[in-house]
Amino acid sequence: MPALDFSDIKHANHVADEDFLRALPKAELHLHLEGSLEPELMFELAKRNNITLPFQTIEEVKAAYNFSNLQTFLDIYYQCADVLRTEQDFYDLTWAYLETSHEEGVIHVEPFFDPQTHTDRGIDIGVVFNGITRALKDGDEKLGISYGLILCFLRHLPEEAAFATLEQAKPYLDHIVGVGLDSSEVGHPPEKFKNVFKAALGLGLKTVAHAGEEGPAQYIIDAMDMLSVSRVDHGVRCTESEALIQRLANEDMPLTVCPQSNVRLKVYEHMSEHPILELLEKGVMVTVNADDPSFFGGYLLKNYTELSEHLGMTRSQAASLAANSLLASFISDETKQEYIEELEDMLAKW
Ligand code: ADE
Ligand code: ZN
Repeated sequence: MPALDFSDIKHANHVADEDFLRALPKAELHLHLEGSLEPELMFELAKRNNITLPFQTIEEVKAAYNFSNLQTFLDIYYQCADVLRTEQDFYDLTWAYLETSHEEGVIHVEPFFDPQTHTDRGIDIGVVFNGITRALKDGDEKLGISYGLILCFLRHLPEEAAFATLEQAKPYLDHIVGVGLDSSEVGHPPEKFKNVFKAALGLGLKTVAHAGEEGPAQYIIDAMDMLSVSRVDHGVRCTESEALIQRLANEDMPLTVCPQSNVRLKVYEHMSEHPILELLEKGVMVTVNADDPSFFGGYLLKNYTELSEHLGMTRSQAASLAANSLLASFISDETKQEYIEELEDMLAKW
């Protein structure tokens, strides 16, 4: 579906404020559940499971969240995930994310989880699946947030390990809409996972992959050509190739961009340098997402408000970004239509 034009809405050229951004019905398509583990819940789970953390206070945790690149973040991120042990832990993690999202006007989520981070610690994949999906179902029933769950393979591990994970996930395939690829990008190109992605496609799953976050533009091309992705996660390094930008625009290939993550992981020095709105204006189907909100200092709404504050994002641009998030999701065409009408109704009232 091509992007929608909102240049004729009321006050289209006004900078979008927080109330407007909260009221926009939005989807979140790039969110790692393990990255939504707030320090408070981490301490609670550590106590519940008798685990000693390397931090004593919330202030110490926040001080440690000072990253110089993706790897320095991932090292702490995997350490923190150690507090997640039981089905209830995974439920509590997911539920907390859904409650926050609900307050921010999110109506649909397609979160990621990394089963290998847990199975490699001896936790049964069923514990992870059951805790997360029970919370997602409750979110749908009690908060009205629809969902599709995405299982990510860790790219710093071999493809055989990804195959083993796909095998373990077989009894739970009806719990997921697709598979993704995350963790350390540079040196682990899409090509490394082409066979397991082919197997996942053969099982009727969608595919997405992190590409062009720290890795080169070529990884974005390879994710499309070798992994048949329906969306590219991050993808911001497409700015290095005008031909690639044109291809992304022509093919309506969605990018799940994470502005705050990019600044906190030093892809950009400052939000004012972020290219998301330039890509939007060039016709690329960009969307806004939080990535790992508890580590990067803000959930989805904060990612939108930062764009207003530092890039002067207008109401019309914000509406396009929200529409893109709904159009780029894996919901049915019928539900997409309903959600777009909800967005248009909201815009008519503002
Ligand atoms: N896992 C969690 N967040 C990630 C990111 N931003 N890039 C790659 N892997 C991740
Ligand atoms: Zn990510």
